[in-house]
Amino acid sequence: MYLALLFEVLARCVPKLRIYDPSNIFPTSMDRVVRVDDVAYADAVLLDAYRIDLSIVEKIATEIRNDALLMLVNAVVGIDRCNDVVKQLVDRGFVRTWIPIDGGVATFAKRGYDDRFLQKVVDVWRKSIVEGPYPIHFNTAYALYTLSKFVLSHRKGWVVEIGTGLGFSTLWLAQVAKEFGSRVLSIDRRCDRVEYARSVAKELELDDVLEIVCSDAKTYRYEEVDRIVLTFIDGEKSEYLAYLEAVEGKLVDGATILAHNALSNAYAMKGFLERICSEPYRCIVVATDPAGLAISVRC
Ligand SMILES: C[S@@+](CC[C@H](N)C(=O)[O-])C[C@H]1O[C@@H](n2cnc3c(N)ncnc32)[C@H](O)[C@@H]1O
Repeated sequence: MYLALLFEVLARCVPKLRIYDPSNIFPTSMDRVVRVDDVAYADAVLLDAYRIDLSIVEKIATEIRNDALLMLVNAVVGIDRCNDVVKQLVDRGFVRTWIPIDGGVATFAKRGYDDRFLQKVVDVWRKSIVEGPYPIHFNTAYALYTLSKFVLSHRKGWVVEIGTGLGFSTLWLAQVAKEFGSRVLSIDRRCDRVEYARSVAKELELDDVLEIVCSDAKTYRYEEVDRIVLTFIDGEKSEYLAYLEAVEGKLVDGATILAHNALSNAYAMKGFLERICSEPYRCIVVATDPAGLAISVRC
């Protein structure tokens, strides 16, 4: 059931979804979804851990596009059957995100970053843990990277982040923007954090695609931004609805809204969750970490 909802949300994040799905996992009735026979044309490739054919994994890993998602369903309940496949894909340069719904979905995308980027984000993550503010978990960072790749390869426009912190999540978004010729605006009301995040972005040569401003995200005017295709919200939990209202007029149809802490702080975020889970939005909340990530799309 959750898997079908996840597919529905993903299918709406892009104008048309071309899938390579040899085991017919994707619901047949879904709008705007086209089945293709060639992996190289697919936006998403679906495999079932229970029916996995090792010989085709090698072929898929070679032929799949840089911006496509590879989703392995039943990856947790069938881990004994697919452990080698997961390892093989990670060794071949794919980033893996665990999405714990139904039998477990392992989602892969080709890595476009190098070891220098990875070392720096590990440093920023550690500093954030020690000094605050608390960063998102690595599995959520991988989800952010993978979903942003999927969205930005299909929709041209801005990424807006609310709650930069020391820049851990920001760097992942900026890396994708660099890979796909987009731009990121990130906002935090703590100017000392903004200064630090800017310095790291400069060090990684991501400052040309990233603007970080020190302001209150509720009242900021977002004048430099025209079309927003993706928003990541990780600020003050009781203010999420106000953040959404501040950017809502600039969201394109099909814009993706990602919001952290949708499980751990659901009560404080009640008004926001009600908004992004009803018309004109569709949403699913997944535990990419214990705090939870809401994935919503404006239809
Ligand atoms: C949980 S931290 C963000 C962590 C960051 N996303 C990461 O993964 O490292 C939340 C941040 O939101 C900022 N914040 C809180 N309320 C805000 C507001 N009204 N406008 C802008 N930033 C705000 C805080 O200063 C804090 O740095």
